[in-house]
Amino acid sequence: MTLLRVEKVSKRFGGICANEDISFDLDAGQIVGLIGPNGAGKTTMFNCIAGYAHPTFGKIWLDGKEVSGLRPDQCARIGIGRTFQVARTFHSMSALENVMVGAVLVNRSIPAAREYGWKLLELVSLAKFADKPAASMTISEQRRLAVARSLAIKPRLLLMDEVMAGLNPSEVKEMVDTVKKIRDKGISCLIVEHVLEGIMPIADKIVVLDYGRKIAEGPPEVVSNDPVVIAAYLGDE
Ligand SMILES: Nc1ncnc2c1ncn2[C@@H]1O[C@H](COP(=O)(O)OP(=O)(O)OP(=O)(O)O)[C@@H](O)[C@H]1O
Ligand SMILES: [Mg+2]
Repeated sequence: MTLLRVEKVSKRFGGICANEDISFDLDAGQIVGLIGPNGAGKTTMFNCIAGYAHPTFGKIWLDGKEVSGLRPDQCARIGIGRTFQVARTFHSMSALENVMVGAVLVNRSIPAAREYGWKLLELVSLAKFADKPAASMTISEQRRLAVARSLAIKPRLLLMDEVMAGLNPSEVKEMVDTVKKIRDKGISCLIVEHVLEGIMPIADKIVVLDYGRKIAEGPPEVVSNDPVVIAAYLGDE
């Protein structure tokens, strides 16, 4: 079943075409990687899907409902969660409080939000930080905390923007394991990532952007051997 459909989406900022005529689908239960060089238009596409920007042309659908044009809070309510490229955590609040900020929106009471917050911290292997301030956590732990926060609204689709950037190999593995656990809970994932060794082994499909356009789409092993993709990353030389 198609969960997300991106249909001929263009996003212009004045004369800049950040996204140009991009189409792709994501099926329920899939992990899809959205990759491409710096400035390719990946975060802009996330902003269009999550209501932070509106496509200049084209449409976006979640489970048959048009989401292009909705506000971020409306996108969140129909099941689109996201993390931000620069991790946003409330530094002086505890890990549990950070997650509860989102959880109170969808749980009927504070105790229910707290209980749900605990479950999310366990899912991202951060339960031991429940009472500790976010400021005391490493970057890797703060990234997983940001993921837990984005899960607090109970999304059907989670957009993750470079959650593996700057992590060492064992931290990347922890994040990869976290993503797999999220998918196994039935939450579909669209992941923007430069850390290809993190995304390639877990993605069902990779979509490649370059200069705002989609230049490739397919299974990771096919895309990573595509001469057009290699040229986009390494240059024609
Ligand atoms: N609000 C904006 N106003 C003007 N130009 C923008 C805006 N947002 C993005 N752009 C431009 O659109 C293009 C795509 O940017 P975007 O942030 O989507 O790329 P990206 O693929 O996420 O890059 P990176 O890998 O560096 O995060 C860039 O040229 C950027 O400067
Ligand atoms: Mg970006």
